[in-house]
Amino acid sequence: MDFDTRVQTETVHVPLDGGRAYDILIGRGLLARIGAHLAGLGARAVAVVSDETVAAEYGAAVTDSLARASLRTALIAVTPGEGSKSYAGFAQVCDGLIAHRIERRDLVLALGGGVVGDLAGFAAASLRRGVRFVQAPTSLLAQVDSSVGGKTGINSPHGKNLVGAFHQPSLVVADTASLDTLPLREMRAGYAEVAKYGLIDNPGFFAWCEENLAEIFAGGPAREAAVAACCRAKAAVVVRDEREDGERALLNLGHTFAHALERLTAYDSARLVHGEAVAIGLCLAFRFSARLGLCPGQDAGRVANHLALAGLPTTLAQVPGGCGDADQLLDAMRQDKKVRDGALTFILARGIGQSFIAPGIDAGAVREFLVSELG
Ligand code: NAD
Ligand code: GLY
Repeated sequence: MDFDTRVQTETVHVPLDGGRAYDILIGRGLLARIGAHLAGLGARAVAVVSDETVAAEYGAAVTDSLARASLRTALIAVTPGEGSKSYAGFAQVCDGLIAHRIERRDLVLALGGGVVGDLAGFAAASLRRGVRFVQAPTSLLAQVDSSVGGKTGINSPHGKNLVGAFHQPSLVVADTASLDTLPLREMRAGYAEVAKYGLIDNPGFFAWCEENLAEIFAGGPAREAAVAACCRAKAAVVVRDEREDGERALLNLGHTFAHALERLTAYDSARLVHGEAVAIGLCLAFRFSARLGLCPGQDAGRVANHLALAGLPTTLAQVPGGCGDADQLLDAMRQDKKVRDGALTFILARGIGQSFIAPGIDAGAVREFLVSELG
């Protein structure tokens, strides 16, 4: 793997209190120099947790860079895909870290997409009751969303992300050149989370995305600009509401539907990856809002058109192998973490960039909507 050696790094600061503030470094070619960035964190050993695909592509360059910074290294690679965010994957990573004698003052480095970030972060939160970790996100989704904000965890057979911890990273190193090797399907999936930031509260960003879609996919300045804009948006929300007592829930626009779809497709990445589920979820959230008379139907249409242009699925009919019936979907949604006393909370929208938290949504209305969507 040749690395792009241009150095043009943008830094987004996440000013959390209690000594937990950290930087997000964004730029091309950062992985080849990651040792220099970690050297200042005072660790003696760094355990790199990755998946087999990402480890094959970047593992050697990262461990070489760490070794050049006089850090003892180890590499633990899990099977790629959502299936590794499981009890078995968690045990594999924890036991690997223990076998490599990773101590409290050492570091866990999550090198990969959101699966590796969530899994390695949860292992770091749990190992010896908490060791520090660094995120090196290599998928678009992880660079714009999952590597920032400290949510870590695994899935239960009962539902998505149901076992986990808040554990903030000490640093995030997002090498945008690593997206050059990301499969197009995964690039598209990550793009759903990019568009999400515009849909939540920034109609100007959504319009910019509509204009710059091709350039974001092609690479170059629009890609870095998109990653940095999303990180700034997420950092601001996380600082105001780290533990999701309020507005952080807005970041889950589309996710109540998405998590149910992932569960009903058995977390099988061959059928549906997280970002694809989010794309369908975003469209459902807007169409449901329109059906409730909250949002203009043309905004729901504009969302679906844009995501379709990005090559993403926008309807339940596009879930390979199907996604169950309305009752199964509703049942899966009842495991959502936003459920309070059994009542469903959705993130709905009054228009593009005007999302809001809607508690106490009537399950009957959701069911009717799902029946109409399933046609
Ligand atoms: P992923 O980690 O499975 O990565 C997608 C695929 O791309 C994998 O097969 C991986 O091997 C491959 N890949 C990654 N980087 C690559 C690269 N540079 N070159 C080649 N191949 C590469 O999936 P994802 O979409 O990155 O993350 C999805 C996960 O993130 C879900 O589990 C979701 O729940 C979680 N998530 C967490 C948060 C959070 O706040 N913690 C937020 C959003 C999503
Ligand atoms: N992706 C949702 C959150 O980090 O809160």
